[in-house]
Order: sequence, then structure tokens, then C-alpha cells
Amino acid sequence: MKNKKGIITIIILVLILIALCFVLFIFRKDTKTNDYKKLEKMNYSTEAINKIFEEKIVDKVLDNEYSKTLDEAITTDEFEITNLDLYLNIDYINKDDYINELNKLVSIGYNIEEIELIIGKIDYADIKIINNYTYINDLKEYLEYENFKIEYLERYVNYRNNNIALSFNDIIKNVNMDLDKESYSDPKTVENTNDILMLINKHNKLPDNFEPENLEKISSKCTTKELLLNSEARKSFELMCNDIKSLGMNLRAISTYRTRDYQNKLYTDYSNRNGKAEADTFSARPRFSEHETGLALDVMGGNTTYTDFHKTDEFKWVEKNAYNYGFIIRYPKEKEHITGYKYESWHLRYVGKDVAKYIYENNITFEEYYEKFLLK
Ligand code: DAL
Ligand code: ZN
Repeated sequence: MKNKKGIITIIILVLILIALCFVLFIFRKDTKTNDYKKLEKMNYSTEAINKIFEEKIVDKVLDNEYSKTLDEAITTDEFEITNLDLYLNIDYINKDDYINELNKLVSIGYNIEEIELIIGKIDYADIKIINNYTYINDLKEYLEYENFKIEYLERYVNYRNNNIALSFNDIIKNVNMDLDKESYSDPKTVENTNDILMLINKHNKLPDNFEPENLEKISSKCTTKELLLNSEARKSFELMCNDIKSLGMNLRAISTYRTRDYQNKLYTDYSNRNGKAEADTFSARPRFSEHETGLALDVMGGNTTYTDFHKTDEFKWVEKNAYNYGFIIRYPKEKEHITGYKYESWHLRYVGKDVAKYIYENNITFEEYYEKFLLK
């Protein structure tokens, strides 16, 4: 009798256990179905949802907003579970190899915040450049600057290593102006030779076969001998020369357009006389002189020798007014490290009125103007 009671109790207990398991099973199945539906509602693809279950990351995914990046990543061979937070947080870009590039950025050492910035600021094609390089501690700083050029990345980093006191802005600006390179070491050949805003300096040269087309003779009232200048520059210079004359002063051009051969002769003579290093501080090598463009000229005031131009009344006037005629003093004082030349009060360059005004008002060099607005 006692035994029978015991058996019945055991059977009841087993039944309760089975019932419990059943309820639990149903409940779990129900939860899974619910989660599945939630993920579907969020927009995840069926393939992605199955993988999300497989990877046991359902709760985490449900705790976040829908991520197209995760949706794509999880169905590829590139999916790495350790990068889950990244996939959940980074916007999707519909490009080949995107997940792979993201993984690489992580493996180099960039965190989510940095990757967000990289993806947001750099053209997708250029992300490979970052991925081909080691981790850059200050990448965030560089990316803040408008004129940051991804192709110069390595140069910025190297230049900064040697100029640690400079601001990031100056690092970028100087490298963009090629100041990290030795003068004449790796010059670019200027392409826009019809443009009055072409930049000619120790890093930018004229093509070998270049000869300006629109040269015109300057009125003899404004020169010491027969001289040629670019047509637009010539008209403007004569206006300036006439206006200064009406104020009782006398401004004349003494050297304007020079052929390549003539520039070569000048530079060679100076080199023979003063040595190459010294000559390079005030005379351009052939194809590197603005005089060869017809857009630059040397002037004198009154009867004073041109090297004393800065002492004349004409200079005082030119310094304040030349921009109204489209001219700038091309090699200003204390800008040798940028222009590559000692101060030349007498060397004027035609850039047009708007540009000349900006350069004058901001007290910058043409190199800096070019870097800011024209550098491709
Ligand atoms: N004196 C300037 C730099 C030239 O030779 O063009
Ligand atoms: Zn000159």
C-alpha cells in the first residue's frame, strides 16, 4: 500500500517535470519566434537573422538600432565577431570590400570614433591609403583641416616628426607648399600655363617648350628700354605708371619678360660671381623664373638704383596701391622660408585685382594664396 503511494507520487512528480519542460520549451520557442520577428521588423535580412542566432548575438543586436553595415557584414566571410560594435555603429557604404577595409582599420589600431571620422571625411577609394600605412596617432588632428590631402599623408607625418613645434595647420600648409622638399629636388611642371595665376617657384617649373603668347611692348614712358609684358599685365602696369606720374613720381620697368636663355645667362653669371648657393637666394634657375612667364617685372623709382627701390617714395606708394592694379610684391620681407627668395621690393607679379587685394589685405605670399585656394 505504502509502495503504491510512493510510485504514484513519483509518477506525478515526473509528469510535473515533463509538463514544466514542455512549458519551458514552448516559452523558449515563443521567445525565439518573437526575437526573430523583431529582427525582421528592424529590417535584417533572413540570412543575416539566421547568422545573428548562430553567432548568439541576438540580445546585443536587439539592443541597438538596425545597422545596414552589420546586415551586410554578417553574411560575408569577412565578418569578425570581435568587430561587432564597429559594425553596429558605422554607417554603411555600398562599396566593394567595405567590410574588409573596416576590419583592416581596426587591425591597424583605429577605434570606432576614429573610423567614423575616417569614413566621414575621406573618399572611399582613399581609405586604402590609410590602410596601407601604420596607425597614425594624430590622424584626427590632420583630418580637421580643409586642405588635408590624403596623398600627402606620409609626408605630413614625416614633416611633423622633424617640426614637432609646428601646429597641424602649419604642417599641412607647409607640406602642401612643398616646403618639406629641398628646393629644385622634385619640381612639378606647371600645366596651366595660360592662366595668369600659374605658380612658378623652386618647386614649380615651366614646361621645357613653354613660350608666352600674348606679350606686348610696354609704353616707353614706363620703361628704361624696349620691354615686353603679358598683355593684361602690360595694360595694368601702364595705368599704374600713369597714375603715379600724375602724383609727381616716376615708376619704370627695368626688366620684364625674359627668355629662358636670358634667365639662364643671368643665373649662370650670378652663380659664377657669387657661388650657386648665394645665387639661389636671389636669382631663379632657368624655367623657374616668373620673368619667363611675362607676368613679372622689376621696377625702379625716380633715378634710384632698383635694389634701393624700398627707399623711394614710389615704393611707398606701390606698397599700398599696387594691388588696385592687380600687382603684388612677390618676394616680401620675412617670407623667404616660403618664397625661397630674399626680400625683393622691386619685383612685382601680376595676379589680377581680386587676388592681389586678398594677398595684400591678408599679408600673405602668392604661395600661401595658391595653397589655400588653387592647389588641386
Ligand atoms: N629674382 C627672381 C627670383 C628671378 O630671378 O626670377
Ligand atoms: Zn624680378
